[in-house]
Amino acid sequence: MLESRAMTEQIVKPARGLVGTARLPGDKSISHRLAILGALAEGATTLENYSTGDDCRRTLDCLAALGVSLKVTDDDRAGRRVRLEGCGLGGLQAPAGELEAGNSGSTLRMLAGVLAAHPFESVLAGDTSLNQRPMRRVMEPLRQMGATLTARDGEYPPLRIRGGPLQPIEYALPVASAQVKTAILLAGLHAPGATIVEEPLRTRDHTEIALEQFGASLERERRRITVYGRPRLRGKTFHIPNDLSAAAFLLVAALLLPESNLVLPAVGLNPTRTALLDFLAGQGAGIKILDVEEAEGELRGNLHVRGGARLKGGAIEGALTVALIDEVPALAVLGTQSEEGLRLRDAAELRVKESDRLGALAENLRRLGATVREYPDGLDIAGRQPLKGAELDSFGDHRLAMALAVAGLVATGETLIRNADCVEISFPGFFEMLDALRG
Ligand code: S3P
Repeated sequence: MLESRAMTEQIVKPARGLVGTARLPGDKSISHRLAILGALAEGATTLENYSTGDDCRRTLDCLAALGVSLKVTDDDRAGRRVRLEGCGLGGLQAPAGELEAGNSGSTLRMLAGVLAAHPFESVLAGDTSLNQRPMRRVMEPLRQMGATLTARDGEYPPLRIRGGPLQPIEYALPVASAQVKTAILLAGLHAPGATIVEEPLRTRDHTEIALEQFGASLERERRRITVYGRPRLRGKTFHIPNDLSAAAFLLVAALLLPESNLVLPAVGLNPTRTALLDFLAGQGAGIKILDVEEAEGELRGNLHVRGGARLKGGAIEGALTVALIDEVPALAVLGTQSEEGLRLRDAAELRVKESDRLGALAENLRRLGATVREYPDGLDIAGRQPLKGAELDSFGDHRLAMALAVAGLVATGETLIRNADCVEISFPGFFEMLDALRG
C-alpha cells in the first residue's frame, strides 16, 4: 500500500480493512503539561508513555535549555519514559539562546505562561507555520499580569518575554483555547492569591487535572477555574494514556473500510476529549469501549472497532466544534462517505492551526473528486462521494497528512501525499502502522 518516494512523499493504496492491535503514541496534550509541571515541581517526576511526537520533544528541549535536568529513555514495551528533576516554582534558569518550539503551538503558548513569571528575558521561536499563528491571545492576559511581551507585528512569533513578579488576574477568555487557559493558569501559579480564568466554552481540562495531581490548590465551577498561587508542587510518577486524537484517524479509517477489526488499547477517555466517540456513536459506528480505568486523574480504556457500518453524517457546530477541534480533518473524510454528508460551522479557529485546515481540506477533498463548499467558518461536504486517488498536499500539517492517508485508503487507485513526513509531529510511524494493519 505505502511506498516512500522522496522523504516527504507517501503513496497510499486502497485497503479493505484495518485489522489488528494498534499501539498509539502517548497523549500529546497531557505530555506537554506534565513535563512543564514536572519542571516546576519539587523533586523527581517520571512520565511513562510520554508522546514520541516532535512537538512534545520540543517542550523537553526547551525545558532542558531552561536548566531542567531530564533523561529520556525508550522501551519497546513501556514506550517513552521521561524523568525530570523539578526546579521548583520560579526556579528556571535564563536560556543561552532562543527557545525553539518548532511546529508546536502548545509548547510556545504554555511556556509563555511560565516564562512570564521568571525574571529574565527569553525568546520563543517557531517554524514557518507556527510563526504565522496568533499569539495576542496569550500576550494580552500575561501583560495584564505584569510581564512584558513583544512579538513580530505585535502578534506573531518570535515572542520575546521579560518576566517578573506577576499579579493574579480574573480573565474571561475571548476565544475557547485550552492552550491559552493553560498559559494563564501556569502564570497564576507564580502569582500571589487567586487567578481566575473563565472559558466561553468548555475545553480540555488536562491542566486542571494535572495541577491537582501535583498538589496545587484549584477550584472549578463550570467554566470558571481558580488557581491559588505559590503552592508547593510535588513531583510524582504518571502513566500517560494513548492519544485519542491520534486514534481518530485509525478509528475513522477502520469504520470506513468494511473488513476492519481493530483494537486500540489504553486510549485516553477524558470526558472533555470524548466528543469524538459520542459523535461516531451517533453516526451509527460500532465502537466498543472496554476495561475503563483511571490513573492519576485521567481515564483510559480499550477501543474495539469494526468496519462496514452505514454512517449517517450530520452537523458539527457550536460547542461541538470546539470539542472536536482536532478531529475535524478525520471527520471531514468520514463526511464524504456518509449518507447525508457533513455540515461544519463555527470553525474559523481551524484557519489558524498548523495550516489553514478549512482551505487545505476543501482543496484536497476536491482533488479526490468530492464536492465541498467552503465558508469563512466551515465547510459543507457532500455525502456518498466516491473518492478517486489523486496528488494531495498536507501543507506540512500533521493532522492533514493523516486525514489524507485515510482518504487514500478509501479511494480507488493511488493517492500521493506530498509533505507527508510531518506526521512525525504527533504520530511517528503512522504510515508504517497503516501498512502493518492492512495485513
Ligand atoms: C490543545 C488545545 C487546542 C488543540 C491543540 C492542543 C492543548 O488548541 O487544537 O491541538 O493541548 O491544549 P487551542 O488551545 O489553540 O484551541
